[in-house]
Amino acid sequence: MTTITHEPLRDNLGMGARVRGVTQASLQDDAVRAQLNELFELRGLLIFEDVEPSPAMQVAISTVFGPLKDHPSKATPRVGGDDMLGVIEIRHRPNSGGRVRIGDQVMSQWLPWHFDHCYNDALNRAGVLRSVEIPPEGGMTGFVDGIALYEAISSDVREQIADKTIMYAMDVILGDLRYGRPVDFAEVEASPESKAVMEEFADRPRALHPAVWTRRSGEKVLHVSPWMAKGIDGLDDNEGDALLKIVCDEIVDAARDLSYFHQWKPTDMLIWDNWRCLHSVSGMPAEYGRCMHRTTIAGDYGLGRFETVTT
Ligand SMILES: [Fe+2]
Repeated sequence: MTTITHEPLRDNLGMGARVRGVTQASLQDDAVRAQLNELFELRGLLIFEDVEPSPAMQVAISTVFGPLKDHPSKATPRVGGDDMLGVIEIRHRPNSGGRVRIGDQVMSQWLPWHFDHCYNDALNRAGVLRSVEIPPEGGMTGFVDGIALYEAISSDVREQIADKTIMYAMDVILGDLRYGRPVDFAEVEASPESKAVMEEFADRPRALHPAVWTRRSGEKVLHVSPWMAKGIDGLDDNEGDALLKIVCDEIVDAARDLSYFHQWKPTDMLIWDNWRCLHSVSGMPAEYGRCMHRTTIAGDYGLGRFETVTT
């Protein structure tokens, strides 16, 4: 008999749970798999503690929640052989490129609030992360719940954005970040992969996703990614820009209280609901290394599409 235990991440958060007792053996148990899926649907972010730190374990945990999906960018390195399909490596080598400045702090690995694959029509169900090289300082992964964000933003903005559709395009040039941009922000040096990624995605149409959507369980989710947002469908550029700016500023403000930043341990893995949560990465000093392994769980919420381009 396998016992999985769990507890809320923080008393005042509807999102997140710490989960213990997960092993490759326990994951064979159908009752455990069902329990984890139910908990994931309820909490949107599960942090598995004291798990075997291996790609095989990451695949075992990931496939509880759905089939793996390969990463859409060919420029992203893969880990292991065919049986580890879908485990990608996100590595920062000490003092390599990819630096931003916020105020007087220069850092690597900083990423703004976003949901994954917003530049795509289909939205992956979830991502699973493990840190295989942990910097002594910074490099935390942040999460904020779209259900809580929907409740937290001001009522007039909520009303204005409720029926809007946001346009997105792949954009890894952080210097061009327009929405949710920190005060006194600059890109010091683009990441080494950014050029190849931008070239690969140059000819793709923009993707459209609703700003707010309703879960099967009835909660409304504010699901706007400040990163890679390009405008609001049906509004002219100025109007769309002004509303997007207000919404994204409110998201960033609300996230100060509502977010959870995970400080990694080598035996942690976590899964987040990409249809519900936004995530981000805190920066870290460039002289440290950091390496994350990541899988993507396939699926789609069925509300995204590509823009129809008329010629
Ligand atoms: Fe991401």
